[in-house]
Amino acid sequence: MKRGFQVLTALWVLALVSCTRQPSKFSGPLISSHTTMVTAWDFPKNPLTDKSLDDPKQYDSKLANQIRWGFRLFTNTSQEAPQFAPGKMACNNCHLNGGQRERSLPLVGVAGVFPEYNKRSGRLYSLPDRVVDCFVRSENAPGAPEPQLPTPTSKEVMALSAYITWLGRGYEVGKSPAWRGQNTIAAAKLIPVSKIDVRKGESLFMERCTNCHGENGQGVQIGDKKAGPLWGPDSWNDGAGAGRVYTLAGIIRYSMPYLDPGSLSDEQAQEIAAFIDSKPRPQYPFKEADYRTEKVPPDSVYYFNRGN
Ligand code: HEC
Ligand code: HEC
Repeated sequence: MKRGFQVLTALWVLALVSCTRQPSKFSGPLISSHTTMVTAWDFPKNPLTDKSLDDPKQYDSKLANQIRWGFRLFTNTSQEAPQFAPGKMACNNCHLNGGQRERSLPLVGVAGVFPEYNKRSGRLYSLPDRVVDCFVRSENAPGAPEPQLPTPTSKEVMALSAYITWLGRGYEVGKSPAWRGQNTIAAAKLIPVSKIDVRKGESLFMERCTNCHGENGQGVQIGDKKAGPLWGPDSWNDGAGAGRVYTLAGIIRYSMPYLDPGSLSDEQAQEIAAFIDSKPRPQYPFKEADYRTEKVPPDSVYYFNRGN
């Protein structure tokens, strides 16, 4: 209890500090990446409270229910879709604030860019195809006791796609919003994977991350929020985007530590990412089908060449 209180007090102090920062140019309709305790729990668009979904002139009631279930699936994935999310990861753990926060892999206005060519699979992807990928990799669907892999027409995938499409209403079709793709480390700042200091990453993790993620990386409850497991059997598998060191570094660099995002350097983010991705996690069973038409990216060494 006492420790929980200390954590909360520390969070409030951080919140006050971060309030004084300016919002950045990517925020648009999104929660600023310099979040505060006030906005950490916010959903700018929330279908559970949005009354326009009850208006039959605007929404068919079946569609409205699908959008609402999509939001619940997004924020509470392992409870709402245990057969496809056997671990403890929620979509919302990586796509913060319901996919409505800048520099946390936001999904607002993204629906209209699909279908889009997907390099990893070497084919055109619809939005439901992309959702399936996050289920199969980030949510480790193949790790279920009796795996039944999601497809683009699974009702859970359709509902999530309905929610994400609702977040895309009013945006131009075929145009990538300015805030898309901002979770990357600049190419000039990338350190060759074999040269990243994993031990430094471990000590940074112990210093900056354990009060919310725990020394065992499994996540500590903070109010009604809980960070997802960063490694171990309940985490994302080694075929996930977050299983690539540079991709994970891009998530950490701009969205973590939760209440002081942006405070790590590009180098530190890569060190911590390399540490997290060096830990054991479930294995994606279909790796040989990835990157058939593209070169395997260098930071995916952890899942292709680690000897597991
Ligand atoms: C472990 C972290 C993680 C979790 C959990 C996760 N995702 Fe993702 N998601 C990512 C990453 C990383 C990307 C890709 C970023 C990139 O392409 O560089 C991504 C991309 C996406 C995209 C495409 C976005 C775009 O701009 O092209 C969609 C849609 C998506 N995720 C939906 C979901 C849904 C729905 C869930 C839950 C079923 C989910 N994600 C769970 C990490 C995660
Ligand atoms: C103040 C608490 C706090 C601190 C400190 C913190 N995190 Fe988080 N982290 C969270 C919460 C809460 C989430 C889930 C957010 C959500 O679901 O809205 C999260 C999510 C994540 C995720 C997405 C995947 C997952 O399993 O949830 C990663 C990766 C991550 N944090 C890494 C880090 C790293 C690395 C550090 C240290 C540099 C750090 N965090 C520090 C609270 C924190």
